Formats: sequence, C-alpha cells, structure tokens
Amino acid sequence: MAAEVLVDVQGLAKTYGPLRAVDGLTFQVRRGEIVGLLGANGAGKSTLMKVLTCYLTPDEGTATVAGCSIESDPVGVRRRLGYLPENAPLYTEMRVREFLDFVARMRGLNARARRMERIEWAVEHCGLKPKYMAPIGTLSRGYRQRVGIAQAVVHDPDLLILDEPTSGLDPIQIVEIRRLIAIIGQTKTVFFSTHIMQEVEAVCSRAIVINKGRLVADGSPTDLKAQTARPGRLVARLRGVDASNVRKALEGISAWRKSSVRAVPDQGLVECVLHVGAGGQQPEAREVNAAGEAFFAAAREHGWPLLDLHGEGMSLEDAFLAATGHAPRDDDAQDASAAEPAQTKAQG
Ligand SMILES: Nc1ncnc2c1ncn2[C@@H]1O[C@H](COP(=O)(O)OP(=O)(O)OP(=O)(O)O)[C@@H](O)[C@H]1O
Ligand SMILES: [Mg+2]
Repeated sequence: MAAEVLVDVQGLAKTYGPLRAVDGLTFQVRRGEIVGLLGANGAGKSTLMKVLTCYLTPDEGTATVAGCSIESDPVGVRRRLGYLPENAPLYTEMRVREFLDFVARMRGLNARARRMERIEWAVEHCGLKPKYMAPIGTLSRGYRQRVGIAQAVVHDPDLLILDEPTSGLDPIQIVEIRRLIAIIGQTKTVFFSTHIMQEVEAVCSRAIVINKGRLVADGSPTDLKAQTARPGRLVARLRGVDASNVRKALEGISAWRKSSVRAVPDQGLVECVLHVGAGGQQPEAREVNAAGEAFFAAAREHGWPLLDLHGEGMSLEDAFLAATGHAPRDDDAQDASAAEPAQTKAQG
C-alpha cells in the first residue's frame, strides 16, 4: 500500500506583480520520501517553500500538509513542519543549548521533560554534541547549518522543508550535511532544494525539477536519467591515424550535427565525438543508429583502425538541463575545445 500523502499541492501559483514565480504546480509528497527540489536560480524554489510554510499566501491553488490547509489552518501546518529558510538567521550570541531551548518553548514544548528529550534527539541526530555549549557566533558555517536543521526538527514535525541546506558550505561540510539529511530522512519526510545533482543522487528517493515556476520533471533520480537516457553523442577511438585527416573526412558527413576530433598523443589515439540530432534535444534512436552506420562506413573507406564506438548517456546534470530546456552541458563546450588544433606546436 502506498504511504499516506503528507504534502498535497494542487494548482499552486504565486505572483510578484506580473511575474508568476510559482506557476500552477501540482504534486504530492508521501510520508517517508526524501524529495529533492531542483531548479536554476529564480526557478521558484524558495517561493514554493515560503508558500508551503505559510510565509506567503498563494494567488491560486491549494496545498495541505498532513491534512492541514495552508489557507484555513496555517497554525496546524506550521506545527507539522520544520523549516530551514535560505540564509537562515540565527541568534549568534546564544549558545546552541539556549537557542534550541528557546525554539522548543516557542514551538510549544512546555513540559520540561519532553523539551529536554526533543533537544537531546535533535542534538544527537544533528551531530551537535561537541558544540552544545558553544555560542552560535563561534561556529563554522557547517555547524551553524546543523543548528538550523536542529531547530527545524526540535518539535518533532512530520515534514522538514530545507531551502538549500548545503549552499555556501565547503565540500566536507556538504558531505556531512547530506549524511545528516539521510539520517533524518530515516524517520522524517524531507523536502529540500538544491542546485547540486550529486546531492539528489546521493540522498533522494525522488527529484522534482521546476523551471520558471512550472514542474518539468518528477521521478526517481534513476527515472530522471532514464527519461533522457538515449545517447546524444557517439564517441569513437581510432589508433594510428592523423587527426586532421579524420576531422576533414567527418566534417562532410550529414549523419551528425557536429563532429569534434582530438588527438590523445600519449595514448597514440584519436578520439571523435559525434553530436547526433538537433542541439538541446534527445535524438531519435534511428538517428543514433544512422550515425553509427555512417561512422563505420567512413572507417572502412579510409582504413581507420577502430578501437571502439559507444554511445554516451546523460548524467543527472544533463537530464536536469534537458528538462529545463537547455542543451546538454558538455555539448557546445566540447565543441569549443575540440575546435582548437588537436596538437599545438611547442613554443620556442
Ligand atoms: N519578494 C519578491 N518580489 C519580487 N520578485 C521576487 C520576490 N522574491 C522572489 N522574486 C522573483 O521570483 C522568482 C523566483 O524566485 P525564488 O527566490 O523563488 O527562486 P529560487 O528558485 O529560490 O532561486 P535561487 O536558486 O536563486 O534561490 C525570481 O524571478 C525572483 O526574482
Ligand atoms: Mg531560493
């Protein structure tokens, strides 16, 4: 049986003047999911989160959190969720212990025993034990982020909404916060925004991609890649051939949009990349097959010793770019580098 729907968003829209920052979003989050919200700068991630946490009222549509409506029962919604806003403000002069106690009281944990139990849980799960008595102002950004997450879970909410929890952290802190999200995700439902694809692959059961306030993809990270899995390029490696001759021969063939050829002198190889189909779109399978056949024919005609020919699938990052209507990341960048002469003469 599918888990209970914890967040139910129906046709949600939020406008700032003429701008529809959130433009008719419909999706659900089920209990136990860790959902990554992906989107470029300005896609509407923070706006969506502010609406779900009742900091902004929507212009259209509805949303419920654990059955409570954001419009008719904001108090109920806030009780059931914990929120880490973008650039969360913290009381820097307070100690971690005081701050969490303060937040817990504000959250209505009046009974001391229950409050201490929850603070202990948050401190334990957020790895804050070594900093329990430290003033927040003395903490590193990674530890401050842990305090931000601890304040969001202290009242034992069903749902955690974290707006770019790893933004501005160094790589070690990023890994630590990701691990923390995964640990918290064992007992809580987590909805967090990020720009980082590996983050979604590392911790999420599901990714939602939005672009200009609209949902453009929704599925597991694997599904997302599979939706765009057809190779957009073919890569071939030849041995003992002259790169400029190969480049010239491939330029005249119409089975691909572009070809780039580069010598790998230390391996005695020439690598050819064939970009198939129209830019920014996934090619049809027959286009990929036709390109493969045309390459084999050229190799036979010129007597090129072919080591291998394979299609390259997309990374989750490419899938994200494709879903938001951008050309795959390395498509044109590769061409630019490949346009340079394959071998440059040593100076002097
Ligand atoms: N208070 C505001 N007044 C007017 N426009 C706003 C306001 N807040 C956000 N916007 C605009 O709404 C759009 C969505 O912004 P939002 O902050 O939700 O995006 P985001 O996906 O969180 O971006 P980022 O990745 O940069 O945090 C942007 O075009 C932004 O400029
Ligand atoms: Mg934002």
